[in-house]
Amino acid sequence: MSVATFVAGTAPGALPGLGHMVPLLRHPTEFLASLPEHGDLVEIRLGRTRAYVPCHPELLRQVLTDDRTFDKGGTYYDKARDMAGNGVATCPHQDHRRQRRLIQPAFHRTQLERYGLVMEAEVGVLTDSWGDEPVVDAYPELYSLAARIVTRTLFGTHVDEDVVAGIRRSFEAAFSGFFRQMFMPEALRRLPLPANLRHRRALRHLRGTVERIIAEYRRSGADRGDLLSVLLAARDEGDGAGMADGEIHDQVVTVLAAGTETVAATLTWACYLLSQNPAAQRELHEEVDTVLKGGPAGWGDIPQLPYTDHVINETIRLYPPGWLFTRVTATDVELAGRHLAQGTTVVISPAPVHRHSSVFERPLEFDPGRWAEDRAAALPRGAFVGFGAGPRKCIGDGFGAAECAMALATMVSGRSIRCEPGADVRPVPLAAFYRPRHLFLRLPRR
Ligand code: HEM
Repeated sequence: MSVATFVAGTAPGALPGLGHMVPLLRHPTEFLASLPEHGDLVEIRLGRTRAYVPCHPELLRQVLTDDRTFDKGGTYYDKARDMAGNGVATCPHQDHRRQRRLIQPAFHRTQLERYGLVMEAEVGVLTDSWGDEPVVDAYPELYSLAARIVTRTLFGTHVDEDVVAGIRRSFEAAFSGFFRQMFMPEALRRLPLPANLRHRRALRHLRGTVERIIAEYRRSGADRGDLLSVLLAARDEGDGAGMADGEIHDQVVTVLAAGTETVAATLTWACYLLSQNPAAQRELHEEVDTVLKGGPAGWGDIPQLPYTDHVINETIRLYPPGWLFTRVTATDVELAGRHLAQGTTVVISPAPVHRHSSVFERPLEFDPGRWAEDRAAALPRGAFVGFGAGPRKCIGDGFGAAECAMALATMVSGRSIRCEPGADVRPVPLAAFYRPRHLFLRLPRR
């Protein structure tokens, strides 16, 4: 489709002062997935602010690949910068290429293989702690797994467990109020309310601890094979300069923020979807039983587990953890025939594309088989944006997909997944990442 054929529209039902905030917070996926009915680029209101949502795969791709025009900025990223400073995920276009080049080696295949050992060990600790028929509170259980993996990947085993646990706690406290802080008026944010004070204390503790660890690493000068060592060793190809301590701090917090809830949410939804789709669970068991023969999954097993990978992909298609983020136009620009003035907010969400029947057949059905090579090849370009696209695409996509596949395969090796009664899978309102409110899983041995 050429650019000229894109149609712009406006979402109906904006309330005075609130705009579309009510449906966006109550039924985000349904609301966002309904937008293509009104056009390829749809105007919505976030409170009083006008924002535009690309709903066509090509148009969304165009926005994501042109990061010079559609730059990171606005309230969402200002809030994220309170935590992650000017790290690779939050920095503007002008700083991005250098930062991305510098941190890329930390995500090189040979490094990922090393992190694979951490993943395998931590998944083993979790599943070994389960008895014959554990009932687990899914999200907290899988959050703590993902947090242990990401901190051990960053710091190896060279930092004391209680220091790492302290980082995890203050990170959680700082991060849990993320969207609430984002939507809170500035005046309220400055008040010494208990929640605000907790948030600030947690940020201070996080910064202090991470800075101390960086200083210790610098002093010892040893390559410890972990992600932090790679960040400290990174040198710019152009001027040979490394990253200053402040920059490294921002990258460490960025990796913590980007690599924990995303993975925990994906695993939680994957378990939920499998509990609701016995045929898919059977197919997964067949694959895992053949390859793992009742044992745990290692890094080297992942290529032999394509269906497991399809389950993860299909989960992210239906429940993308990164359900809403934004861009701000750096200059005036024409998009789908609309004039967007400099400073306009563009809302990025996978839902309008991932749940559209012109992109995916029977889009609401959980069908991991749609990711088999022959079927996936027939999908339109830009159909899957669960990891974003373009220069700012997730740098941890291989890391995250492998971690989810390894954890899921080990969890179902010899076990079934059942959903306990009373689950409430509506999304947690104002959470930075899309996850269910209340989900207990029973994981009996098979
Ligand atoms: C299933 C897991 C994951 C999902 C669904 C996911 C999703 C995403 C998405 C949608 C973006 C793009 C955001 C934007 O364009 O504004 C992104 C960026 C990013 N992700 Fe992930 N992510 C996952 C796991 C991870 C992991 C495990 C790490 C690190 C260990 C990570 C690190 C990052 C970083 C650093 C960026 C910023 C990249 C840049 O701007 O150059 N992610 N992720």
